[in-house]
Amino acid sequence: MKKQILTLIFSILPTFAFAAGGGVHLDSAPIDISDMDSVKRGAKHFVDYCFSCHGAEYMRYNRIARDTGMTDAELREELIFTTNEKGEPTKVGSLMKVAMTDDYAKKAFGTAVPDLTLTARARGADWLYTYLRTFYVDPYRPTGMNNLVFADVSMPNVLSSLQGMQKAVYKKETRQGVEVEYVDHLELAQPGSMSAEEFDAFVADLVNFMVYLGEPVQNERRSLGIKVLIFLVIFFVFAYMLKKEYWKDVH
Ligand code: HEC
Repeated sequence: MKKQILTLIFSILPTFAFAAGGGVHLDSAPIDISDMDSVKRGAKHFVDYCFSCHGAEYMRYNRIARDTGMTDAELREELIFTTNEKGEPTKVGSLMKVAMTDDYAKKAFGTAVPDLTLTARARGADWLYTYLRTFYVDPYRPTGMNNLVFADVSMPNVLSSLQGMQKAVYKKETRQGVEVEYVDHLELAQPGSMSAEEFDAFVADLVNFMVYLGEPVQNERRSLGIKVLIFLVIFFVFAYMLKKEYWKDVH
């Protein structure tokens, strides 16, 4: 048993190390999963900026519509821009599949493009929030870009028109007798169409949507949990009264 517990701990540990993003400071994501307007804005950002490459294959369009209070007509207008294999418009009940094949992605980016349905659960909201805001110019990379939490990433910086271009400010330090150069912080070298605050809010909505994607029932789970607790409290009162009634002649 002890051995099994140890094996379990060791098999979970690397996941945590991975999620922490290699020791780089992660900004805390200002998200609120119960804010369905934010989730809805995030869904739109996702379709506009990510969905050309990444799918969310475990999610159906009309589930998002139901949870964020959209009608089918709004859904067609705001989120569905694709067609199926026969060229017909994608159905509202379809899964959010992407047309890009792994073969094509390998040719274009050197790697397959991961599905993003469960990424928020694997990486965490803070990691995503930091990742999407810390692309910086690096002429040594094929895309011309690198990233603070995902070193040598092959994803292009798809939000640079909004955020602008950031450049890295390097620092040198001698560690154990060896001089190392590292990125101290990022600086805006060329502004985009949004201010820093607007861009942070944009990314927060997007991350909020991705956290929702990872577990769409989490709001229901929470409200159900509260109802169960209220039930238990009321049940306890009755059980206690009953117990007193039963035992009153004994004592
Ligand atoms: C032009 C295609 C393209 C677009 C558009 C794109 N990505 Fe990516 N993305 C990639 C590729 C390729 C990778 C794999 C990177 C690697 O493994 O080096 C990736 C990786 C990622 C990862 C890391 C996944 C993981 O756990 O390893 C996340 C998160 C991500 N993308 C989020 C997004 C979001 C959010 C958007 C929309 C704002 C987006 N991407 C738009 C191509 C794209």
